[in-house]
Amino acid sequence: MYENLNTLLILLCRTISTRKLYFQDHPKVKMLGGRFMTQLKEFCEESKLDKLFIGIIDGNLVFEGRNLVGPSIVGRQLVSFAEKLHCGGMSFSSQTTEKEFDTLLDLSSQLNKPLASLQEARELFLSKRIENIELAQQYMGSSSPIPKDQQSAWQGQDSGDVLQSPTLIYQALFDSVADAHGNVAQGGDIDVDSTRSVSEYMLHFAKTSFTDLMQHVHYPDYDSYTVGHSVRVASLAVFLASSFNWSEEFHVAIGTAGLLHDVGKSRIPDEIMYKPGKLTNEEFAIMKEHARIGAEILLGQKNTSALDVSAAWGHHIKHDGSGYPAQPQWAFRHPITALLQCVDVFEALTAARPYKPPLSPHMAYSIMLKDIKSFNPAMLAAFISALGLYPPGTMVKMMDGRTGVVLSVGPRIDRPRIKVIRDQKGAEIPAEDQPHINLAAGEHRDLAIEKLILIEQTHE
Ligand SMILES: [Fe+2]
Ligand SMILES: [Fe+2]
Repeated sequence: MYENLNTLLILLCRTISTRKLYFQDHPKVKMLGGRFMTQLKEFCEESKLDKLFIGIIDGNLVFEGRNLVGPSIVGRQLVSFAEKLHCGGMSFSSQTTEKEFDTLLDLSSQLNKPLASLQEARELFLSKRIENIELAQQYMGSSSPIPKDQQSAWQGQDSGDVLQSPTLIYQALFDSVADAHGNVAQGGDIDVDSTRSVSEYMLHFAKTSFTDLMQHVHYPDYDSYTVGHSVRVASLAVFLASSFNWSEEFHVAIGTAGLLHDVGKSRIPDEIMYKPGKLTNEEFAIMKEHARIGAEILLGQKNTSALDVSAAWGHHIKHDGSGYPAQPQWAFRHPITALLQCVDVFEALTAARPYKPPLSPHMAYSIMLKDIKSFNPAMLAAFISALGLYPPGTMVKMMDGRTGVVLSVGPRIDRPRIKVIRDQKGAEIPAEDQPHINLAAGEHRDLAIEKLILIEQTHE
């Protein structure tokens, strides 16, 4: 049920943020809104509820006392809309009509200033004939309905000027890419400085708890796959740059370049970007243009670096010089572009898409290793030993039946350091009691990983 709920809410949040960028009858808005309406009805039917109530507490979306991390990440527009309405939640009746939902979307994109009170917001809804979507009072309970273990994800967000929570950092990364793509699609400029500062936060984070960040980057984005893909590519690239001991200024540079590398996709026509089936040769030729277009867009922006431009240009150029866009053999390629090219392919292979399940890192490496012309061999070898068979943030089942999250890669790629989160019977272990196991240590000689648990991303 929570899986369906997550999908439903992410859909709602994406519809609201997409409506902010496009007009009401835009096919993207229509498609997302239509899907939300269908799934709302299905959800109510399956869970035998006559309405879906979503609470909003301290900027997080909450359902029946559970803090919904995934939807909260993409749901900033919904949260800020709710704040302007002074409400602590919204309920969507199963009877909600398409017209009511469209009107709600209009309001969400037009309301710039907060209203005076919840009363005024409710009157506004009624005057617009929205009857099946109701606004709830703010949560006033003395004890928080959010379970303790989930609160920890939100603690420490305000210490100094560095974002501490992995959820917030991921949210900021996601927003900066979504903004860049949205602005370009509308013919506007990219705020490259803010992308760079988000990348700086990520650098800080990659050093302290990269594992947490990587767990978050499994959340899918539902409208284009490009935003989530760019965030994952950037996070992995920063992690690798720091494992390779490249200088710190490179880390920020590579993070920014990673976040913006596919920005050219925002100029590819929707029919091609969102085509469910295989692209024809002509369509693929248009799709390939995103690399050149991205480089041109970035060249036209203030504050972009040469690396941002070359990453957008060169991330599909292979080690032997083939790939696209075509360039002369003598053209210099920066090692960072070669790294991004590896990361880009690895991310695409290991991500779930509606048309394919995720591959394990092991499978992805074996495909990449066979493709000898495509990757710089030294780069690929360094890449594999830094990420390991079980990259930080992935979940694994151990031979003794326990489940853990990989904390860091060990000296051998199959023996990482693990935090145990579930016991043999599958029961969750409280955060403070979770043992850390270093599989490289002699005392754990007899213990091994049985398998990787791939996080299935729930696509509609
Ligand atoms: Fe690309
Ligand atoms: Fe890409």
